[in-house]
Amino acid sequence: MLIFRHKKEIRTHLDALIAENKSLGLVPTMGALHEGHLALVQKAVSENDIVVVSIFVNPTQFNNPEDLNKYPNTLDADILQLESISNNLIVFAPKVSEMYTANITPKEYNFDGLDSVMEGEFRKGHFNGVGTIVQELLTQIKPRNAYFGEKDFQQLQIIRKLVALKKITVNIIGCPIVREANGLAMSSRNEQLSESIRKEAGFIYKTLKNAKIKFGTESASKVVEFVRNEFRNQANLQLEYVQITDVRTLRSIRRKQKNKKYRAFVAVYADGVRLIDNIALN
Ligand code: PAJ
Repeated sequence: MLIFRHKKEIRTHLDALIAENKSLGLVPTMGALHEGHLALVQKAVSENDIVVVSIFVNPTQFNNPEDLNKYPNTLDADILQLESISNNLIVFAPKVSEMYTANITPKEYNFDGLDSVMEGEFRKGHFNGVGTIVQELLTQIKPRNAYFGEKDFQQLQIIRKLVALKKITVNIIGCPIVREANGLAMSSRNEQLSESIRKEAGFIYKTLKNAKIKFGTESASKVVEFVRNEFRNQANLQLEYVQITDVRTLRSIRRKQKNKKYRAFVAVYADGVRLIDNIALN
């Protein structure tokens, strides 16, 4: 497995491969890899000649400095996991100074309001940070295909917007959410949960699935009310938000319309650990 720390070196290496007309896939991550990340890598491997996995804990997307300091650094273990998929992967693990040459500050984007709701409302500036690093990675690595999880569905839609806005030639490919046996969406944050809370947190997906069933016959506001009520009975799971939105605008819906796609989104504190999840409703 090749591991690059510097953008110039990886560029030289990739240029030689692209000259041979090889297709290139990119999977951006912040490391602490789990099955959710690995599913993205596996899909990328099945669809491209070469796959780059970037591992970079991006400081500008953390609105809470404590979260950044606590973010796990498990590069050796990550590499072992990637090797179990393929020995031909390329890892790009740059230092902060390599990605932010001047100031460690995010660019500002106009994402047409996609960034002002849900995660954007509760994590100020987060999506400008994500946009900054993803733009940098896409323009440095120049992949044909880039893979992102629907676990962070709002992020996925914002990246699609970013690519249109900056006219970057790349296919953005969304990948389904990978879950633990009890339905809890895989996340590096799950490691912070006690065994019993981790079990209880299966309730989040169970409730989303019930919301989906209810959405077949009831209004969006009734379904939102249902989700709120369900969480009221959960001592260890505090609902931060529940929203049902049009997948394109990410705006809450008033009335269902035919031919539109909707999703339900939640953020939940499980014994102090913030978890997010979502489900397609139709
Ligand atoms: P990170 O949280 O490491 O996630 C990397 C990618 O893995 C994202 O596209 C995320 O949606 C996907 N992912 C995480 N858990 C998943 C799951 N359970 N099922 C499917 N996909 C999952 O998201 C980021 O990093 C950063 O914001 C990044 C895009 C790398 C920019 O810094």
